[in-house]
Amino acid sequence: MSRKLFIAGNWKMNTNLAGGVELAKALVKEVGSLKEIDVAVCPPFVYLGEVSRALAGSGIAMGAQDMFYENNGAFTGEISGEMLKDVGCKYVILGHSERRHVIGESDELINRKMVKALADGLLPIFCIGELLEERNSGRTMDVVTRQVKAGFEGISAADAAKITIAYEPVWAIGTGVTATSAQAQEVHAAVRALVAEIYDKSLADVIRIQYGGSVKASNAAELLNQPDIDGALVGGASLKAADFVGIIKGGL
Ligand code: 13P
Repeated sequence: MSRKLFIAGNWKMNTNLAGGVELAKALVKEVGSLKEIDVAVCPPFVYLGEVSRALAGSGIAMGAQDMFYENNGAFTGEISGEMLKDVGCKYVILGHSERRHVIGESDELINRKMVKALADGLLPIFCIGELLEERNSGRTMDVVTRQVKAGFEGISAADAAKITIAYEPVWAIGTGVTATSAQAQEVHAAVRALVAEIYDKSLADVIRIQYGGSVKASNAAELLNQPDIDGALVGGASLKAADFVGIIKGGL
């Protein structure tokens, strides 16, 4: 089963307006017409409009880093899926470990956002991953199984096919410690088997599972070569065009 690789840059709370636009323009120049791999960038909310203009006409898509599960109203500080669509987002990252562990988002809250994103016509990049102590005590699969089951609750197979899962072991995020390709492949294969169990094999065969956590140009090719790794969600190394392009080229 061949799945097209999908490489997304999660800029997190980084860049400024000029720097974000410059980064987007540099990526358009380098990989804007790439057909073999799906590429997206996920800037901070306040730069989405300008980055969208910089990406216009290119093959690079845009995503947001979060959203809320209502359309509008008295939800100070929140951003709706409709707003994200309005400024050109195709994707939305949901359940990122920093939102789970720094902000305190629950599985239930993330599921509400997933259901709403799909209803709004956005494609979720749904993040899962275990903490170091969970891995060290042999609970990795328990944790990611709970996260996947809760995240996909109430979502039809047709909608589930629109979701990209991003396996991001928390201990590998921003630490420079990458999961080995064997460690990542093991979890990816198990998550794919779990999707087959919850839905069916035909969905498991097409759903894309990205790896995230200290991905860089020097380790991208080996990770992307694993049979169940279908792309990458890149943090730090997506902030410099040359580094991000190096990762993308690792998938060619
Ligand atoms: P780093 O690539 O900086 O480790 O971040 C990974 C990540 O959290 C992407 O969402």
